[in-house]
Amino acid sequence: MTEPRSRRSVLAVPGSNPRFVEKARGLDVDAFFLDLEDAVAPSEKEAARAGVVRALEDGGWDGKVRSVRVNDITTEWAYRDVITVVENAGAHLDTLILPKVTAARDVHWLDTLLTQIERAVDLPVGRIGIEAQIEDARGLTAVEEIAAASPRMETLVYGPADFMASINMKSLVVGEQPPGYDTGDAYHHVLMRILVAARAHGLQAIDGPYLQIRDVDAFRRAAGRTAALGFDGKWVLHPLQVEAAGEIFAPSQEDYDHAELILDAYAHATTVDRRGAVMLGEEMLDEASRKMALVIAGKGRAAGL
Ligand code: GLV
Ligand code: MG
Repeated sequence: MTEPRSRRSVLAVPGSNPRFVEKARGLDVDAFFLDLEDAVAPSEKEAARAGVVRALEDGGWDGKVRSVRVNDITTEWAYRDVITVVENAGAHLDTLILPKVTAARDVHWLDTLLTQIERAVDLPVGRIGIEAQIEDARGLTAVEEIAAASPRMETLVYGPADFMASINMKSLVVGEQPPGYDTGDAYHHVLMRILVAARAHGLQAIDGPYLQIRDVDAFRRAAGRTAALGFDGKWVLHPLQVEAAGEIFAPSQEDYDHAELILDAYAHATTVDRRGAVMLGEEMLDEASRKMALVIAGKGRAAGL
């Protein structure tokens, strides 16, 4: 892949609900996934697969990254989720999201199965990517090996709800600071480990859902924290969250313009003046400044600023 895909907003769509699938087509998101996991009741798992295949085949997802979240590898549904979706709609699919990944071997399993199916139904081998959700203590402990597990890996996705449950956090509000913890950000360690592992292996880092869907200010606060660290995007559950995510995971116009200015000034300094450091107003620029500006400019260009 040359340019990483834009994933500022990643819309979660229950695979068993045709009304939500229809609505999702009209939303201006960078990416979406049709869910076969936790948004689908056990009794609906089988039927949901057919709905997901149909939704992918019917198209209408213009420009959006198309994903399906299968069930985790400890369930009786996982293998058939992958086989049914990829055999029937693999050509209309960009990635699979694997939830509750706890070790590299989970990713190896999916990679191998994908390759077998791609060969069997004549799809280009290796095109379908893998996104691994880190959502418990074991997953976080193994996050480095998970990030490195396959060339198909595209993202690490933080799963806050499952993660909070897995460490016995004394809170019921997903993504908010646990009541009683008032000395900092309770998630900083988790988020940084995921982000650093992702960057060390050239992957994107995606923040998970914020479940209080009508509280857009709170969504903005939660998204603002992970965007500031460097995360590439966040799951969205409601149209109210879509616009906020698109804005928050792009740089401000002011920062974007300044980044382009830095790049121009530094390019001029190094090529025309043959100097490694230069002043731009009151600011001294060197090669590291160029790299920082490149990040902001890249995010801004991807967002169409
Ligand atoms: C998402 O899957 C979560 O557990 O938050
Ligand atoms: Mg989860």
